[in-house]
Amino acid sequence: MDYSKDIDQAVESFRKLLEEQLQRAQNMDQAGRAAHEGPLTIGVIDGDGIGPIITAEAKRVLEILLKDEIAANKVALKYIQGLTIENRMALGKSVPEDILAEIRACDVLLKGPTTTPKGGTMESANVTLRRELDLYANVRPVAIPEENIEWAFFRENTEGEYVLGSRGIEIPDQLAMDFKVITDKGTERIARAAYEYARSNGKTRVSIITKANIMKKTDGKFSRICHKVAEEYPEITTDEYYIDIMTANLVNPAIRNQFQVFVLPNLYGDIITDEAAQLQGGVGTAGSANIGSRYAMFEAIHGSAPRMIEQGFGAWANPLSILKAAVMMLNHIGLADAADRLSRALDDCAAAWPIVKGGEVTCRAFADHVIEKIS
Ligand code: IPM
Ligand code: MG
Repeated sequence: MDYSKDIDQAVESFRKLLEEQLQRAQNMDQAGRAAHEGPLTIGVIDGDGIGPIITAEAKRVLEILLKDEIAANKVALKYIQGLTIENRMALGKSVPEDILAEIRACDVLLKGPTTTPKGGTMESANVTLRRELDLYANVRPVAIPEENIEWAFFRENTEGEYVLGSRGIEIPDQLAMDFKVITDKGTERIARAAYEYARSNGKTRVSIITKANIMKKTDGKFSRICHKVAEEYPEITTDEYYIDIMTANLVNPAIRNQFQVFVLPNLYGDIITDEAAQLQGGVGTAGSANIGSRYAMFEAIHGSAPRMIEQGFGAWANPLSILKAAVMMLNHIGLADAADRLSRALDDCAAAWPIVKGGEVTCRAFADHVIEKIS
């Protein structure tokens, strides 16, 4: 078989990818969000599957929690509709342009989970939004108070295995190749975010997670640059673990409470934060913040749970994860009092009213309890 045509084609598309990625790396110095007139706008996107069910409750909670700020025109809630899998498939766009324009007009977003089709070329809406809004830091806190565990994961969110995940190369019936991209600037900014967080939150240890023994170029760079940033934070202890052993360490009760802050490339961060969330009580219990210098998006850590909808259990979807994301959002926009009120209400309700599929406490009933606590 002569593959020279396939190879030429692949080389040509690889050249384009390289040029594009180099451009991205060079343009990465971003300006922050310009001060603007009018209220700070929170865009609420409901998403797919259980998304509309849990975001409906988050909206109700926010309307009550922020009623004074909304009345004073300091904050506005804007409901953005149409980011659904049906609409996206029909238009062949992971985030349709008119919706992206609405999103860009907001300051921060609270987003329900969106479905990502397996295979094909349709990019995940999350990946598109993280890229388009340059949300480079995926911050995922996990706490297990009874074990004195407080972890904060700083997952690089705009490059790594994800940035070209829909643009790999395939020679049919022979092979497929995907690409992982790590840039100097991209690594430096996530490392700095992790160390700044550690410094301002009294954390004493940052763990760099890679597989630099195998992914020598990309993880090698990630490791080197994180260590270089670490030199600017001499009061913080830095160590480095490979992702496989750190995955094991998180399920080792003898040592896991020694870890505090983690900084890691995109895909490892994706995987290990589900593990960490599960240890905390389930993926339904963890919030997730996607932070950039201009925009920020807050979401549940879990997916759209289509099986829950198919099996008729949508009403029992757990809104805790999106409500925890709302707490992170309120802190991010400087509404620490509202964040504290919501956070305390969630702690009370989560202990008192666990949501059981098919049981008495539904997503709505849970939100009713939360509203009672914050009213
Ligand atoms: C997450 C999710 C996303 C990811 C999916 C929905 C694209 O798993 O936020 O962790 O892989 O990043
Ligand atoms: Mg994930």
